[in-house]
Amino acid sequence: MSSFRVSSKTRTSGINCISTLTKSWANLENRIKEIEKYKTVKAIFINVDLADLGNREKDSKRRAEDEASAASLATAANNGKTDYPSNLSWKHIERIRACTNIPIALKGIQRGEDVVLAAEKGISGVVLSNHGGRQLDFSRPPLEVLSEAKQMLKERGLDNKIEIYIDGGIRRGSDIVKALCLGATGVGLGRPFLYAMAGYGEEGVLKLVSLLEGEVKNNMKLLGVDNIKDLNEELIDTTTLKFRGSMVNDRLYDGVYEQLNFPSFKNEVGSIN
Ligand SMILES: Cc1cc2nc3c(=O)[nH]c(=O)nc-3n(C[C@H](O)[C@H](O)[C@H](O)COP(=O)(O)O)c2cc1C
Repeated sequence: MSSFRVSSKTRTSGINCISTLTKSWANLENRIKEIEKYKTVKAIFINVDLADLGNREKDSKRRAEDEASAASLATAANNGKTDYPSNLSWKHIERIRACTNIPIALKGIQRGEDVVLAAEKGISGVVLSNHGGRQLDFSRPPLEVLSEAKQMLKERGLDNKIEIYIDGGIRRGSDIVKALCLGATGVGLGRPFLYAMAGYGEEGVLKLVSLLEGEVKNNMKLLGVDNIKDLNEELIDTTTLKFRGSMVNDRLYDGVYEQLNFPSFKNEVGSIN
């Protein structure tokens, strides 16, 4: 992700994300003061999609199947519980906003209306995310929410008041280009980096970055665009973005082209179902 456009002093090549705040609201101001002491902290990210943990059936299945690893899996998956306050509301967000100048970003926003509210309340950024499909079943794709949110912000003259990032399902350079065309400042990737790291370590992560970079550059050339700032919504057809009817089959892709085989991992680390 790129840095927030806050001031030149805060520019950095990365953002330190703080995803957990104390459950005890009484202690909030002190906790934020502690965070402010760390000069490397450039933004506070607050999850707004963790009032409860999603029904992660694969985690439960593994826990039930594998008694031996049950303890560690239970910790990793938090045993079906979340430490987040279930009553998080705009009042809490306003309180956090009021007690610090560190830019605040909300992760897990799922509606255009909430992006508008965030902009009105002086929130610096939002990450439109359905938590990689791990929280609410059937939640909307972030790209769809992005298109809606941008439109709503424009109608209210709030377009430049807030940065919008998206994550979830970004797999190729073309996904990044689509998001940038629709007005995202940047995108996040979860599983692609986890898989690259798990399969190939640092080398895999570097390869992933270079593949994505190559694809973005290639797509931009094919669109006739030299600069990222020139990517815009006129380059993208959104007419079927909300269409959830039956998929149109692509015979060439599905039936004629040879399927790509997965490359073998360097070191066999055990099978993952
Ligand atoms: C194994 C795993 C663990 C995750 N843990 C967290 C987490 O602790 N906090 C959080 O905000 N998001 C978490 N996420 C969600 C990611 O931040 C991100 O929203 C999601 O992975 C993006 O979707 P993608 O995997 O399709 O790229 C997790 C995702 C995965 C796959």
